[in-house]
Amino acid sequence: MIVLGIETSCDETGVALYDGARGLRAHALYSQVALHAEYGGVVPELASRDHVRKLVPLLDEAFAAAGLERGAVEGIAYTAGPGLIGALMVGASFARALAAAWQVPALGVHHMEGHLLAPMLEADPPAFPFLALLVSGGHTLLVAVAGVGRYRILGESIDDAAGEAFDKTAKLLGLPYPGGPALARLAGRGDPARFTFPRPMTDRPGLDFSFSGLKTHALNTLASLSGSEEDRADVARAFEDAVVDTLFLKCRRALRETGLKRLVVAGGVGANERLRAQLAALMQARGGRAYYPRPAFCTDNGAMIAYAGHCRLAAGEREDGPIRAVPRWPLDALQPPPALA
Ligand code: KG4
Ligand code: ZN
Repeated sequence: MIVLGIETSCDETGVALYDGARGLRAHALYSQVALHAEYGGVVPELASRDHVRKLVPLLDEAFAAAGLERGAVEGIAYTAGPGLIGALMVGASFARALAAAWQVPALGVHHMEGHLLAPMLEADPPAFPFLALLVSGGHTLLVAVAGVGRYRILGESIDDAAGEAFDKTAKLLGLPYPGGPALARLAGRGDPARFTFPRPMTDRPGLDFSFSGLKTHALNTLASLSGSEEDRADVARAFEDAVVDTLFLKCRRALRETGLKRLVVAGGVGANERLRAQLAALMQARGGRAYYPRPAFCTDNGAMIAYAGHCRLAAGEREDGPIRAVPRWPLDALQPPPALA
């Protein structure tokens, strides 16, 4: 089955074609980063309008790159949530309109399920079951994954998501939006021995996270310094080490508790090199393995939505009701597709 995937939940427009027989055929992506940069964060109304502008050109680009005709598409998957309501509505109505015109089924997909299944697009995908660490701009989740739609949430952030903490701390450091990659680059020049930030909630049992205190810690540390390039790099390094180490400790705890041998790391913060290296070493030491999507599929993209939609559409799942756009949607509300239940 060939599935067209459409992603518009936040500030990236993604379109992709996934083929059950031949794998990913093409993906096209447009990032709105430059549009939002001058505001220091995503402006929802601008995001919605830009998705409208980019969907058709990206669709043309994906079909041209795949060498496929429109008539080859047998199903359409779109991100139905969670995300910005206006942005979601653009992709959802576009996908459902195409599905009606082409007379193929459409299905609203959970954005975080897309992230979680993204490593399946790589050459050596993980088998079920696995532990998933989902670290994006909006979510920090540890999930025991038994199969498609079989998700048990073990821990989550009680305040800022990991990516949000990176972005807010980057802003304090005077770095442009989106802050995560810029902060990681600055941290690369920092001295890891100069400051030690706390590892929040690691001194008590449980698998939940709290990252908002680290931003305050960075603010207070910066206030006591002159703000030189060196100071800023050292603070960035201490912050990055604290987030990475906290994620590492919670993953190790979750692996011990579940006995799982495979770890999937996905979502935008999963592109962080220090995090990838530490978790790869952890899994190697435990006789298991860490799996990551390529960095371009860690951040938002259409390929992961096409893949997740394919898993469900090819198993016979269908959507008959109204167009779906769900700003808040817990991952563990999902069910396996009927044929796999
Ligand atoms: O998954 P994603 O593209 O969007 C959401 O669904 O939220 O994640 C974006 C987040 C942003 O907070 C961004 O700063 C962060 O991922 N990020 C990083 C890195 N690359 C992206 N954080 C740390 N290190 C990176 N290399
Ligand atoms: Zn995302």
